[in-house]
Amino acid sequence: MSSIFRQAKRLEPIESGVFDEMNRIKREVEDSGIEVINLGIGSPDQPPAKHVVDTLKAELDIRENYDYATSAGLIELRTAIAGWYLKRFGVRLDPETEVLTLMGSHDGLGHIFFALLNPGDVSLIPDPHYPVYKVGAQLAESDIHIMPLLAENGYLADFDSIPAETADKAKIMVLNYPNNPVTAVADIDFFERAVGFAGEHGILLCHDAAYTELAYGGIRPPSVLQVEGAKECAVEFHSVSKTYNIAGCRLGFLVGNKDVISIMARLKSNLDYGVFKAIQKAGIAALNGPQEIIDQNVAVYKKRALTFLEGVRQAGWEIQEPPATMFLWAKVPEGTRSKDFAIELLRKTGVLLIPGDAFGVYGEGYVRIALVKPEDKLIESVARIRSAGMFF
Ligand SMILES: Cc1ncc(COP(=O)(O)O)c(C=O)c1O
Repeated sequence: MSSIFRQAKRLEPIESGVFDEMNRIKREVEDSGIEVINLGIGSPDQPPAKHVVDTLKAELDIRENYDYATSAGLIELRTAIAGWYLKRFGVRLDPETEVLTLMGSHDGLGHIFFALLNPGDVSLIPDPHYPVYKVGAQLAESDIHIMPLLAENGYLADFDSIPAETADKAKIMVLNYPNNPVTAVADIDFFERAVGFAGEHGILLCHDAAYTELAYGGIRPPSVLQVEGAKECAVEFHSVSKTYNIAGCRLGFLVGNKDVISIMARLKSNLDYGVFKAIQKAGIAALNGPQEIIDQNVAVYKKRALTFLEGVRQAGWEIQEPPATMFLWAKVPEGTRSKDFAIELLRKTGVLLIPGDAFGVYGEGYVRIALVKPEDKLIESVARIRSAGMFF
């Protein structure tokens, strides 16, 4: 009997097709007895720092932590976030009015559109992009204007190419540097231009800064809030997930413009009760405690990147070394579609990569490789790719 239940119309434009298809084929490949090496989802595989786990364990024994939290987050955590921003970026934040705790930055990136937009308002969304930006904009029934991120522009958004009429109608612009999936880093000059453009057109600049602590060769990716006057038109989403290897804890934060923080706090106070307090305390330990884990992560991902790049280079697959993030953004062979390449690779080798078009139309022609497996698994995946002799 067919179901009487139908999804709401607002869900119709949401595409999860590529990810669903890759998962379906993954199950088929596993059922055929091949071990899949999953370089798909960007979930850190390294352990959190001991002092963070110890804090979490100790907090589990405290009765009060089991009370409802508040969606804004503990003031002690918001103070730790402000302290971390000051130390890392030289940016001063008022923990009461300029910091909001999130259930992972994903929570905020999805909900910001509901908090700020009315149906028909324009959102400026980069492409390729981490998928939740477009999903959030679509669910809020916003009109989406795509900002192509092109290799010839260093994958930086080109504000001059946005028609003035569109810019004037736009309410939100999303940027993300270091970028997932293309790995590009933006410098402070770019952020100055972005803030200038947003300010001129009355747009809220939403910067997703999830990967600022994962950059190579001494690069120190900036915060958009380092730009003078940025707080007037910008907010930044950040996260402890990748920086401290605690993605499953679901803890992130929104900082910047206080009016936007207050609007988001209002939305969230009607939707959730915030993050489990024991996790918030672990977050405080992560932000205030020893920071060695950051350099360790950078060293681990850097070594993995070089191992993988060197291996596939010998098979004839040239991939550029990333300046940042845990990803490689790799061209597929000329004349091949990303999805066909990724599916054939998965079927023939059991190595799972994400086709670039999962991140938008400008991702076509590429695949994203997440370096989230230990070196021996990466060496094995390279060997499998080489012996499959697929395209190279
Ligand atoms: C660019 C980017 N932003 C945000 C997130 C979400 O991170 P979280 O919700 O764990 O803070 C991710 C996760 O992969 C990401 O790649």
